[in-house]
Amino acid sequence: MESKIKRIGVLTSGGDAPGMNAAIRAVVRACSYYNVECVGIYRGYQGLIDGDFVALTPRNVSNIINLGGTILKSARSEGFRTVEGRAKAHKNLIDANIDAVVLIGGDGTFTGGMVFNQEYNFPCIGIPGTIDNDIFGTNYTIGYDTALNTVVDVIDKIRDTASSHNRLFFVEVMGRDAGFIALNAGVGAGAEEILIPEEDLGLDRLLESLKRSKRSGKSSSIVVVSEGDKIGKNVFELANYVENNMPQYEVRVSVLGHMQRGGSPSCFDRVLASRLGVKAVELLLDGQTNVMVGVVDNKVVTTDLEKAIKENHEINMELLRVSDIMSI
Ligand code: F6P
Repeated sequence: MESKIKRIGVLTSGGDAPGMNAAIRAVVRACSYYNVECVGIYRGYQGLIDGDFVALTPRNVSNIINLGGTILKSARSEGFRTVEGRAKAHKNLIDANIDAVVLIGGDGTFTGGMVFNQEYNFPCIGIPGTIDNDIFGTNYTIGYDTALNTVVDVIDKIRDTASSHNRLFFVEVMGRDAGFIALNAGVGAGAEEILIPEEDLGLDRLLESLKRSKRSGKSSSIVVVSEGDKIGKNVFELANYVENNMPQYEVRVSVLGHMQRGGSPSCFDRVLASRLGVKAVELLLDGQTNVMVGVVDNKVVTTDLEKAIKENHEINMELLRVSDIMSI
């Protein structure tokens, strides 16, 4: 493959996600395979502004496929939102002879990449890495599968104590404005109710459903609440409301928080990251830019960065129906 691209930069930006290291490894090794140099950029766009770069060879990424987090560190850079910040970043890239960049992150990362590409016509390819799975143009984002398994594992443990004490647990999970983690982990962990931003269940229906469960003989219950849920109360207010209306239940809240972003990536995320990392390099060498690589129906596909950011990755509402039936 003969190409004008001789040196590729790679960065991770936004919230870290398990599998980002596997993606970095794939980019570095694909570069080496195609005789292109690879440069790691620390702390996402902030490292671009600061010129915080490191040369990466295949041996520098040994034994990281199994590591959570990102060896390149991550950040949400305020500086890159400014014209001056992006100008500095561009100068640093030119000075370091970097011809193109691979951006691993979520919609904030891709928005930055798109604006940068428009301003400087600098070749950029995005790889979706976020536990939220909220990106259009891919069935799965890197890190989502691992986060799901982490959440299911924790809810299994919460179930042990919930059932021992006959308690009702509200478990808040991440996902920002999307309910993918809540819905899939909720079904996988057998939650009685799942509250997601995509569907406002309403307080009355929630109470009615919990009362029905109680009448049917359930002594404990688990409600999974997505952090972006639109029911109008935060998880603690929700728990108080239910406790006041259902004194027969002792209610507890568990906010899972950032542990959902940690841990060794699942095999699924490692394979996904490897596929997308290789493809990102191949696309750049092929002269493509301003697109994101994703997997749809098990095929690697590309989507314009703008579309990936603006269009909605729709949740599978069928799962809500399944959840309702399962929680009878
Ligand atoms: O986008 C990933 C994510 O973990 C979201 O699920 C969550 O809303 C957010 O990042 C938390 O961000 P921070 O780590 O900056 O608190």
